[in-house]
Amino acid sequence: MSAFGSRYITTPIELADADAGFSCGKHPLDDYFVRHALANDQNGICRAYVLRSEAELPRVLGFYTLSMASVESARVSKVLEKKLPKYPMPVALIGRLAVDRRVQGRRLGEKLLLDALRRIVDAATLMGCTGTIVDPKDDDAERFYGKYDFVTVTVDAGPRRMFLPIATARAAFKDD
Ligand SMILES: CC(C)(COP(=O)(O)OP(=O)(O)OC[C@H]1O[C@@H](n2cnc3c(N)ncnc32)[C@H](O)[C@@H]1OP(=O)(O)O)[C@@H](O)C(=O)NCCC(=O)NCCS
Repeated sequence: MSAFGSRYITTPIELADADAGFSCGKHPLDDYFVRHALANDQNGICRAYVLRSEAELPRVLGFYTLSMASVESARVSKVLEKKLPKYPMPVALIGRLAVDRRVQGRRLGEKLLLDALRRIVDAATLMGCTGTIVDPKDDDAERFYGKYDFVTVTVDAGPRRMFLPIATARAAFKDD
């Protein structure tokens, strides 16, 4: 369990969450949450974390998923301003992140992202991790992550990909 502020917590996804009526307004994400998030968590494909508040409805305020991943080293060496080995570099992946539309615009997306990054910083003490990647599905999502210093590393056609160095995430929590 992770707590931020006194009102909100994130906890691992539970069986009842799929029926909680979660809707972020983007069908693929809603569909993923209802049909796949718990199963993928149970199968070890991702860990899915749900944002809740004892004082507030809906039951699921938001969620995100975390997995291990790797990226071509050329994609991240520029951002890291380091010469890296040529083989793929280890990263954490925030696969999905969404807030229920009834509570959007109240900084819960920011809270969720920081909660995810804190877990990643903790995990990076146990294993190699050069940073965090996200694959924003549209311009809105890219702008959202851009506000938190994620840099677009896709250079040509193909899915968008953004990267945040682990040192940047670590620095955000250094005074905690
Ligand atoms: C994107 C999303 C997670 C943001 O959550 P939220 O709780 O509404 O956002 P917050 O209140 O925490 O906003 C934090 C900052 O991001 C900005 N922001 C929020 N949604 C944004 C969007 N769609 N596009 C651009 N910027 C956005 C806010 O303006 C705010 O910026 P500020 O610091 O300049 O004021 C939420 O709108 C959502 O779930 N959208 C649908 C799913 C999605 O696109 N997920 C992301 C990619 S998988």
